[in-house]
Amino acid sequence: MKQQREQWTSKLGFILAAAGSAIGLGAIWKFPYIAGTNGGGAFLFVFILFTLLVGMPILLAEFAIGRSAQKDAISAYKFLTPGTAWPWLGRIGIVSSFIILSFYSVVGGWIFIYLLHIFLGNLQIESAEQFNQLFSESIMNPYLAVGGQLIFMILTIWVVGRGVQKGIERASQIMMPALFICFIILIIRSLTLPNVGEGISFFLLPDFGALNSKTIIYALGHSFFALSVGNSVMVTYSSYLEKNTSLSKSATVIVIMNIVISLLAGLAIFPAVFSLGMEPTEGPGLLFVVLPAVFNEMHFGMVFLFIFLILFLFATLTSAFSLLEIIVAVFSKDKPKRRKKVTWITGILIFLAGVPSALSFGVLKDTTIINKSIFDTADFLASNILLPIGALFIALYAAFKLPKSLLLNELTINTKHGKIVFTIWYFLIRYIAPTAIIIVFLDSIGMFDWMR
Ligand code: PHE
Repeated sequence: MKQQREQWTSKLGFILAAAGSAIGLGAIWKFPYIAGTNGGGAFLFVFILFTLLVGMPILLAEFAIGRSAQKDAISAYKFLTPGTAWPWLGRIGIVSSFIILSFYSVVGGWIFIYLLHIFLGNLQIESAEQFNQLFSESIMNPYLAVGGQLIFMILTIWVVGRGVQKGIERASQIMMPALFICFIILIIRSLTLPNVGEGISFFLLPDFGALNSKTIIYALGHSFFALSVGNSVMVTYSSYLEKNTSLSKSATVIVIMNIVISLLAGLAIFPAVFSLGMEPTEGPGLLFVVLPAVFNEMHFGMVFLFIFLILFLFATLTSAFSLLEIIVAVFSKDKPKRRKKVTWITGILIFLAGVPSALSFGVLKDTTIINKSIFDTADFLASNILLPIGALFIALYAAFKLPKSLLLNELTINTKHGKIVFTIWYFLIRYIAPTAIIIVFLDSIGMFDWMR
C-alpha cells in the first residue's frame, strides 16, 4: 500500500515552519554584519528592494512549484516537466543546502560556546575590547569551535531524523514572539546608550556613494539567503501543504517578519557599536561582541543574554532543519524507514565538510581561497553564486516553462484580489527578477566597469 505523505497539521504550521526556515542567522547575525561591512543604510535600502521585487516573487514561485507537485526538490521538477534537464535545479539546491549547512552549523556552534561562557562566568567582563578578545579566542579554539558545531549538528540530525518538527512548529508559536520582545528590550537599552546618533544614521540613512558592485551582489545574495529561496527548500516545505492555503498571504507574512527582524537586529546593534566606540566593519563577530556588551549594561544582563541566546539558537535551528530536510526528503523518498539512516549519514557528512570552516578562524586561518577564508568562501559560493543561479532558473522555470493556468490556480486559491496579485507577480517573475539577477551578476564580474 502506498504510504500517505506527511502534511503540515495546519495552515499556521506551514507558515511557522516556512518562517522558521527563513528567519535565522540570516536576519539576526549575517544581516547586521554584512550591512556593517557594506555601507550600512545603503545596503539596507538595496536589500529591502531586492527582497520585495526579486526574493518575494521567487518565494511565491517555489511555493507554487512545491504545492502543485507535492514532491521533494528533485522529483517536483521531474513530475512537472518530465524528460527535461530542470531537475538539475533541485540538484543545485541540494548542493547549496549542503554547503550552507556546513558553515551555518559553525555559527550555530558559537551560540553553544557562549552558553558555556555564561555558565562559567566568563562574561563578567567590562570593556568592549574584552568581549572582542573573548570572541576571537573562543572561535580560534579548535576544540570549542568543532565541539560547538558538532553539538549543533547532532541536535539538528536528531530532530530531523525523528520527524518531530510538529512539536517544534508549536514551540515557535511562543519562541518567535519572545525573540521579538527580547529585541525590543535590547533596542531600548541600545538606544539609550550615550552618543547613538551616529549609529542610527549609519544604519538608517543611506549613503548611496557607498554602493558598488560588491555591495549589490551581497545584497542580492543576502535577500535570497534570508528568505531561504534559490535552493528549493521552500519547494520542499510547500510540498507538504494542502490545497486551500493562500500562498501569497503566507509569503507576505514571511517577508514582513524577515524584514522586521533584520531591522530590529540592526537597531539593536548599530547604535551600540558607535556608542561603545567599536567599528561597524567588525565582521562575523559583530553580533557576538556587541550584544553581550549591551546586555552587560543592563540589570540582570546575563539572565537576559541567556534568554536571548536560547531564542537565537531556536531560530537558527529551525533554519538548519529545513536545510537538512530538503536533502533527506530527496534521499529517503518518503520512506519513513530510510529516513533515520539517511538523516544521520547526510548530517555527519555535512558536519565533516564544515570542520575546515570551523577551523578557518584559528588553525586554518592562513589557508585562503582567492583571498577569502574557507568559511567566507563557502558562504560566498553558496549565498552569492549558487542561490542567485538557482533563483534565476526558478524564476525562468516558473515564468516560461510552467503553464500559466497552473500558476494562476495555485496563486489565487483563497486569495483576495487574486487576479491583481497574480498579474503583478507574473510581471515581476517574468521580467524584473531575471533581469535584475543577470545585471547584478554581470556587474559583479566587472561588465559595466567601463561606464564608471
Ligand atoms: N534563511 C535562513 C537564515 O536566514 C538560511 C537558509 C538559506 C535556510 C537557504 C534555508 C535555505 O538563517
